[in-house]
Amino acid sequence: MAGPVRYEANEGIAVATIASPPVNALSAAMRGALADAVRRAAGDPAVRALVIAAEGRTWIAGADISEFGKPPVSPTLAELIALIDGCPKPVVAAIHAAALGGGLEVAMACSARVLGPAAKLGLPEVKLGLLPGSGGTQRAPRLMGAAAALRLMASGDPLDAKAAMAAGLGDVLAEDDLRMVAMAHAAGLTNGSLPVPVSRRDGGLGPRDAFEAEAAALAKRAATEPQVAAMIACVRDAFDLPFDQAVARERQAFLDLLQDPRSKALRHVFFAEREAAKIANLPAGTKPRKVERAAVLGAGTMGAGIAMCFANAGIPVRVIETDEAAMQRGIARIRSTYDASVKRGSLASDARDARMALIEGAVGLDAANEADMIVEAVFEEMGLKKEVFAKLDRVAKPGAVLASNTSYLDIDEMAAATSRPGDVLGMHFFSPANVMKLLEVVRAKATAPDALATAAEVGRRLGKVPVVVGVCFGFVGNRMLARRTAQVERLLLEGALPESIDRALTDFGFRMGPCAMSDLAGLDIGWRIRRATGKRAPVADALVEAGRLGQKTGKGFFLYPDGARAGVPDPEVAALIERISAQEGVTRRAIAQDEILDRLLLPMVNEGARILEEGIAARPGDIDVVWLHGYNWPAWRGGPMHWADARGLKEVAARLAAFAQATGDESLAPAPLLARLAGAGDGASFSGLKPG
Ligand code: 3HC
Ligand code: NAI
Repeated sequence: MAGPVRYEANEGIAVATIASPPVNALSAAMRGALADAVRRAAGDPAVRALVIAAEGRTWIAGADISEFGKPPVSPTLAELIALIDGCPKPVVAAIHAAALGGGLEVAMACSARVLGPAAKLGLPEVKLGLLPGSGGTQRAPRLMGAAAALRLMASGDPLDAKAAMAAGLGDVLAEDDLRMVAMAHAAGLTNGSLPVPVSRRDGGLGPRDAFEAEAAALAKRAATEPQVAAMIACVRDAFDLPFDQAVARERQAFLDLLQDPRSKALRHVFFAEREAAKIANLPAGTKPRKVERAAVLGAGTMGAGIAMCFANAGIPVRVIETDEAAMQRGIARIRSTYDASVKRGSLASDARDARMALIEGAVGLDAANEADMIVEAVFEEMGLKKEVFAKLDRVAKPGAVLASNTSYLDIDEMAAATSRPGDVLGMHFFSPANVMKLLEVVRAKATAPDALATAAEVGRRLGKVPVVVGVCFGFVGNRMLARRTAQVERLLLEGALPESIDRALTDFGFRMGPCAMSDLAGLDIGWRIRRATGKRAPVADALVEAGRLGQKTGKGFFLYPDGARAGVPDPEVAALIERISAQEGVTRRAIAQDEILDRLLLPMVNEGARILEEGIAARPGDIDVVWLHGYNWPAWRGGPMHWADARGLKEVAARLAAFAQATGDESLAPAPLLARLAGAGDGASFSGLKPG
């Protein structure tokens, strides 16, 4: 088998070509092979210079993240970089694609960087809760100035080839034949004396004021993101300390961050997102069907947003309503959403026109006849949904994927209304559909593998994060959310107020608490569902009955004076809640913030355990991804299942058992899977489960 690095030498110039799919990460094997190539070039009198090139979709994507936390294997990245830095012959990086993190650190240790037009240079460690840990915080400032380097590190977003050249990270832009240009450049460098390695350069940092201004602008993030605080300190060291000392401090900062639970959570998210993209139990060789045209049924809140998703991805879409007026209203809603983006400056007006041109309004289901994928977003009523699917069965072309955007209803029942249940599945978008990233792809009993693969693939084309889930009431996200919502009501009755409940979750890292969220969505939505299903929520019902429907009426859980977006606590609500508690016979008590938090989040984890055991989600990471992209769970907390694992399942189960006992609510008792894992010893975790 070929190694990860191919070495060849021609007319005095050696070329080491990295080929380590999928992304040329700096695994132990790759580092070893690259170090061998450097030593070989250095030791061969016939070789005057070395070019480091690569094949594949990236140049080098960085350190191998899967090795983090394991014992270091020599040569470490730092050793490899020191070898390149100290090479007595010129080493030139020929960068055809992304050089990220440790990849860019390797490139910056070279004597020069030759960029192809598709090169991208970046330091994305910040997104993993880390900082560049192999000299990047020292070399980038010397090449591009300290202020710009700090900006690059703190954003984590790469520069394209032109921007990287302008910033000073690249030496030559090769429009074509990158390898030849890099070899010629390397040969050129052998003519005079060896270029001074970046590590030995004194200048280049730029004005200290500019750096301090950049650092001050990051102060707010630095207060909550330890990696940002650490990178500011490290770049400041570039001004104050010799290179070697500064690199030693950078190394220590990197190792400290590696142990931080926030970085562990972000690394978990990185892999969970990629795992979620792989559909469990899909027969090998399953290929998605071709989707060139789409149709959306219903041009209401969701239908309009979903139609925009297709148009944004360049897929022509028909938006179908029951009558002309409703259709026109839907089209006008789409247009005004695009217009608002144009006004904000986030969309060019010709892009809006191009998208609008892909959207065609129509009346009557017959208009769905040409679509390869049909998503229904009609009212949430099973009778109507079945009728719609039966009609689609007659109208849709053979092989079209028939999807429902239902929030809660049974897709198997809808599939049974057709003669082609294999083509039926759920595509559950989140509101606003053109913004939220999550797409729950619901696999029904009879869903054909290629239909499922099609929904996931189209989801990705629409810029969504598809997660495959099974059929149950509310699927993964809403089913878990219902547990939290029930606790909000209970906590209000027992003694909490909306502001203390919301603060528990915003302190935890959510952008919004559940009460503010309900005010935004409208309290009448839940009220109507409860009325239809014979359920009650004494506090929330009383608010609606008092005309407090949320932001749209200027008051709900909170007050919104003069159309304010952020609510303020309302003494009237406190009085109303106290009255309801008394009516329900509940003696109110002071509830500590940490109890509120656990009462809100642990029942969700418990429901997640049931969801896993029932196979509704294939992996705990899938549940985490649902919560990250559908409900704004803070990424640095890793998602509910990761958070529970990090906390320790024994403690999680004990807390739930205590809540069940104190409240008499049996649903709070640890679910069987959680109880089993909690009893299995300290190391047992959701993430240790074998995929089902
Ligand atoms: N280490 C280990 N595995 C990696 C990896 C890395 N740095 N980058 C990607 N992979 C794996 C993914 O897990 C995935 O594996 P799978 O197929 O088994 O699921 C596979 O490579 C393909 O990844 P993507 O699906 O993400 O491929 P894309 O083509 O969509 O994206 C990418 C490519 C832009 C390179 C993207 O993978 C990415 O952003 N990777 C992470 C880059 C990064 O953060 N680098 C910095 C690492 S930290 C570092 O270098 C520390 C240093 O300063 C000391
Ligand atoms: P909505 O009431 O805003 O829109 C429904 C639209 O469907 C109406 O415009 C109606 O005229 C149209 N319609 C009804 N029967 C039709 C038919 N036979 N053919 C074509 N159009 C028809 O409802 P909304 O909120 O957009 O919800 C639609 C679906 O999406 C529901 O199943 C809902 O549960 C689900 N959903 C809603 C979310 C939300 O936040 N609103 C989030 C995720 C899913």
